Amino acid sequence: QTGKFTYDPGFLSTASCNSTITYIDGDKGELLYRGYPIEQLAQNCNYLETCYLLLKGELPNQKERDDFTKLVTNHTMVNEQMQFFLRGFRRDAHPMAIMTGLVGALSAFYHDSTDIHNAEHREISAIRLIAKMPTLVAMAYKYTIGQPYIYPKNDLTYAGNFMRMMFATPCEEYTPNEVLVRAMDRIFILHADHEQNASTSTVRLCGSSGTNPFAAIAAGVACLWGPAHGGANEAALNMLEDVHRMGGVEKIGEFVRQVKDKSSGIKLMGFGHRVYKNYDPRAKLMRETCHEVLDTLGLHDDPIFKLAMSLEKIALEDEYFVARKLYPNVDFYSGIVQRAIGIPVSLFTAVFALARTVGWIAQLNEMIADPEYKIGRPRQLYTGATARTLKPIEQRG
Ligand code: SDX
Repeated sequence: QTGKFTYDPGFLSTASCNSTITYIDGDKGELLYRGYPIEQLAQNCNYLETCYLLLKGELPNQKERDDFTKLVTNHTMVNEQMQFFLRGFRRDAHPMAIMTGLVGALSAFYHDSTDIHNAEHREISAIRLIAKMPTLVAMAYKYTIGQPYIYPKNDLTYAGNFMRMMFATPCEEYTPNEVLVRAMDRIFILHADHEQNASTSTVRLCGSSGTNPFAAIAAGVACLWGPAHGGANEAALNMLEDVHRMGGVEKIGEFVRQVKDKSSGIKLMGFGHRVYKNYDPRAKLMRETCHEVLDTLGLHDDPIFKLAMSLEKIALEDEYFVARKLYPNVDFYSGIVQRAIGIPVSLFTAVFALARTVGWIAQLNEMIADPEYKIGRPRQLYTGATARTLKPIEQRG
């Protein structure tokens, strides 16, 4: 059975599918990548090991891990022509607008890896996408702040390389702090895949037409941008900063009252989930990382973090949120950690897209490898006008 159609008011006739990649138990707050609990992966692996697991189904041995790391590292540069593409954007363009364009544009450079039905093409496009996303995100950032691009350095780790490309300048080297690099790598691991969320379903649907892998991933980037999905980390931080401007912890009661008043349309960004009706296991790990980073940087008195802790306490105790099972999700803490690392709020979702690229690829490959898959064609429940006869314009009332 390749799937069944069920009516879901959130998305017309969401096509469910069989998958062996990620398992979520929303009631228990469980998340497994290829059967491994996210807690074990976050504590014992790095992001590239996790990529290998998601793509191939098994964790690598030492040689496999070293070879995979070397392969990715050797593909981190992008074609110099990409710089001219960036120049077409206004300097104040949102990084996700730039990323949607850049990722799709990669298909114009790599004709030897655009045939989605060719396993070798899928293999090399996967390596290129995983390798180049950090470079592209850093380029998008540097472009918006008018600084020169920093090229990848192959003797750094994946996360360390990204942070250096983000924060070094030609005038000043950036040597990432190991705790911060580990925190960045953990953010990548926790965001790597999450079964059939909106952007992954978009990538599957887009790829099912036979388009090239880069275009399918670009579609995922565009979908992730939304504030109800990957844009929530940016929205959560903006929410905390708004409450801080309103008066901070003293005004939190007033803010919560606005959230409870449905007519305000205000949501508690970074809370709630379509599947988790318990604590998002990623949020627990992200919260731990948050404390480590703030301890390392001596930011525990940071007003935004203190505000976040007060908001979390209210959400976990207040009947309104408890009754609706609105727990903090991964986005609530990832934004605080990224802010502490120095990543601007406007880049948070681009970092999410960087991390999720491997999950999108693994899910896309799983679908394409299924000999029975067909182009996605969600159906609808038609509730419009029944058939009727057209009147000439002079007879229309
Ligand atoms: C991600 O799908 C994935 O896996 C996504 C993701 C991934 O890794 O890919 O996990 C990443 O997108 C996490 C979610 C990030 N989004 C946010 O943090 C934005 C804020 N959260 C929401 O907008 C909301 O919680 C959703 C969209 C995530 C879920 O919305 P649902 O499906 O409506 O939630 P629900 O059915 O559980 O809502 C129950 C009630 C409703 O109120 P009532 O009609 O019962 O009175 O809770 C309310 C909702 O209106 N509600 C909220 C709320 N989320 C739900 N009220 C205030 N603030 C919120 N955040």
